[in-house]
Amino acid sequence: MDAMIQPADTAGVSHARAAALRSEAEALYLGTRPRTRAAAGAAAHLFDGVPMHWMTDWSTPVPLVVEAATGARLTDIDGHGYDDFCLGDTAALFGHGPPAVVEALVRQAPRGLATMLPSADAAAVGELLFRRFGLPQWQIATTASDANRFALRAARAATGRPRILVFDGSYHGAVGETFVELGADGRPRNKSGLVGEPRDLASLTRVVPFNDTDALEAALFDGTVACVITEPVMTNCAMVLPQPGFHRALREITRRHGTLLLIDETHTLSTALGGYTGEHRLAPDLMVIGKAIAGGVPAAVWGMTEETAQRFRLARASVPEGHSGIGTTLSGSPLQLAALRAALEQVATPEAYIHMNGLADRMESGLAAVIRAAGLPWHVARCGARVEVVRAPAPLLNGAEANRAHYPALEATIHLALLVRGVLISPFHDMMLASPATGEDQVDRLIAATREVVQRLTG
Ligand SMILES: Cc1ncc(COP(=O)(O)O)c(C=O)c1O
Repeated sequence: MDAMIQPADTAGVSHARAAALRSEAEALYLGTRPRTRAAAGAAAHLFDGVPMHWMTDWSTPVPLVVEAATGARLTDIDGHGYDDFCLGDTAALFGHGPPAVVEALVRQAPRGLATMLPSADAAAVGELLFRRFGLPQWQIATTASDANRFALRAARAATGRPRILVFDGSYHGAVGETFVELGADGRPRNKSGLVGEPRDLASLTRVVPFNDTDALEAALFDGTVACVITEPVMTNCAMVLPQPGFHRALREITRRHGTLLLIDETHTLSTALGGYTGEHRLAPDLMVIGKAIAGGVPAAVWGMTEETAQRFRLARASVPEGHSGIGTTLSGSPLQLAALRAALEQVATPEAYIHMNGLADRMESGLAAVIRAAGLPWHVARCGARVEVVRAPAPLLNGAEANRAHYPALEATIHLALLVRGVLISPFHDMMLASPATGEDQVDRLIAATREVVQRLTG
């Protein structure tokens, strides 16, 4: 091992080597992308130079500007090509512009984009969602954030209870009330990065560690929690898998306390055709799926059991019509319905998942071999077609452990070093997705590039 290696603060990697790799990658990025640099200069009237400020979270010195995204490949405006394993942070889980979705959009566009009325595809979409995900009652929203907000409101209305519960380290979109974390003192508080929030969100949102059923039991005990919202696998910190028996206990405890269970499958749709819920036979009261559900077109869905739907219906019937706080004008548009139908019928197919999972097997074993050969204290975590390098030697238990496995500067260096080698992974931790459009050759290039970067970091 290199004498400079300081495992405690660099995840087993030398600071000096990481700094050298970073400056070399930056110079290469800027030196070979004149148009990209010019585009950054021309974006003066976009706040922070980008159409959405998260786009500055990438490791690049100036934003990568995309010329085209097709299948699992991106091209930038300077003509560089990339194997895309980020896939729009899951929005393009089924590849960029799946042909069946593109065709459906082309068919629908001249027949109306937004009507605020059901289209001829509507009933078929409901039926497809029921058959695929098991819940009998569905609504369409435009983003997963919206769908979570609506489902939580429905859960509160159905139960008449004020509170919700989230797991520490979770993320469910721009849903104010879910932005609660455990502080270093173990007490709940507004997430430190949240801006413009004057309320103490912890007054209505409880937060406990994932995989901790004792803490969950204690938090539900007083019967004021309407709903637990959770991903079945935590994917918004370094990946945290459920411990054996956790989901069974979660369901049993929530039922015993009259608390509804909302499973957010937005990222874990990568697991299998019916998401993690279908694969592991979970039994949520509500479910949300966004991002890739309509093949990358802005749409999300939220579903309910018959019993939850009936309780929600009664709650609605008990107040005057109008302004329910659920729904938006563009929700359930003909464009969304056309895309949802095409994606469910023709894109997210059993064959697609077989391909995705086969490639993810290849990714998992290849990346694990690179880590092993370098002797790094990292491991590979996996949720179907979603693969992640985690900077800890063993599987993580909860959000606090995931936090400790997060090395922002090192991660940014690795991301940029991969990017200049033609490989794009997610800007948040080391997440990689295999799509139906991804090829074995692309996975092999990812593994080779990772090997080269790791060798540069460890010597
Ligand atoms: C689990 C989960 N739910 C919901 C969302 C929100 O999705 P969107 O930003 O598309 O609203 C995200 C976004 O990352 C997510 O990871």
